[in-house]
Amino acid sequence: MNNLILITGATGFLGGATAVEALKRGLGDRLLFLSRADTAEAALLRVAVNLKILGATDAEICRIAVDQIICADLSGLDLVAHDARLDRVSTVIHSAALATFSNHPSLEKINVDGTVALAKLLYKRPSLARFIYIGTAMACGEHAGDAGSIAERLDLPLDAQQHLVPYTRSKALAEAMLRSEFPDLPLVMARPSIIVGHTRLGCAPSQSIFWVFMVAQMLGAFTIALDQKIDVIPVDWCAGAIVDLALRDKLSSRVYHLSAGDRSSVSFREVDIALAAARGVSPVGAAYEQVAIESLGKLLPQMRECIPGCNDRLLLRALKLYGGFAGLSYVFRNDNLLAEGIAPSPPLTDYLARCVDSARDISIAEQMKWDFK
Ligand SMILES: NC(=O)c1ccc[n+]([C@@H]2O[C@H](COP(=O)([O-])OP(=O)(O)OC[C@H]3O[C@@H](n4cnc5c(N)ncnc54)[C@H](OP(=O)(O)O)[C@@H]3O)[C@@H](O)[C@H]2O)c1
Repeated sequence: MNNLILITGATGFLGGATAVEALKRGLGDRLLFLSRADTAEAALLRVAVNLKILGATDAEICRIAVDQIICADLSGLDLVAHDARLDRVSTVIHSAALATFSNHPSLEKINVDGTVALAKLLYKRPSLARFIYIGTAMACGEHAGDAGSIAERLDLPLDAQQHLVPYTRSKALAEAMLRSEFPDLPLVMARPSIIVGHTRLGCAPSQSIFWVFMVAQMLGAFTIALDQKIDVIPVDWCAGAIVDLALRDKLSSRVYHLSAGDRSSVSFREVDIALAAARGVSPVGAAYEQVAIESLGKLLPQMRECIPGCNDRLLLRALKLYGGFAGLSYVFRNDNLLAEGIAPSPPLTDYLARCVDSARDISIAEQMKWDFK
């Protein structure tokens, strides 16, 4: 079989959801996983545990064999360069990354050098027809213009000054390096917007970013205006769009926003109403206060009162980081994606109640750990 699909990051949120989507479409035999552990058996177990959390059945998971694992770290790919299975890979879905807003010392090593090493590993292999790089729509930087409506442009800013955090710059840099170092790599950029929860499983697989909405409502304040839109997508829809892009014979574009876009982005007011209904509380509504990032510190007493058990200094730092992105109020246009005939994302308000139910017994401090690993 010369049509293997190599997925990196299957022990993570999006890579795992993408693998589950592929399994559900009957592609299990074609999957190859690049995953880290001491042995291939241990890596298979790690992948299997995560796919189960993301909704794969036991029967689907049991069909994944240990010979579908390439046990490797992105920073040690030379060790697997002679693996003959790589010659049978037709599609790469590169989802592995350090997805953190903190100033992690290995960000460039993993996200940039690791991506370049992966491309080098697959470059010019006989079967390779598509290399899907999972980027991030936020790599457009904080001065993307267009009155908050961001087009699917290939070029991204590389200057650190234009990025709110080193992570988005590392993702932009990885794209630029792929294009300059491997000019004829069959490269497709798939850039998700903000991923929150799962349409069926809510936030059970991951509470990443969900807690920001909870905290904003509990405080009655955040950096975004109540009537501004926020571009959020569920992980399973995003995974479905990635598998669609992987399976198309031909693609019309080289870059895709996997986003809610104009059609499915909802305003913060709509989120407030849906979240309040699910929590059984009143929406903040007219009492909501839009606060500039530099003034978020004035909310410290409210944080101590409304969000017990939380480290208020850590929470303030987190709110400043996430508030920076929310305050941009970007809506990522997804014309290229819709032109491929891929169904639009459901709006966050459609599945927010499931997120609330699944996270009801998990403290905000626990939820935040998903984003501060
Ligand atoms: N989540 C979002 O809101 C969002 C939005 C836009 C774009 N994205 C992009 O989507 C992709 C997946 O993000 P995610 O949220 O799924 O992240 P995640 O849950 O943190 O998963 C990261 C994955 O990368 C793997 N990884 C990290 N370092 C590695 C290394 N040195 N070698 C091999 N594998 C390594 C991890 O493996 P281990 O389990 O071994 O650590 C894990 O499987 C990333 O490229 C991210 O930039 C995410």
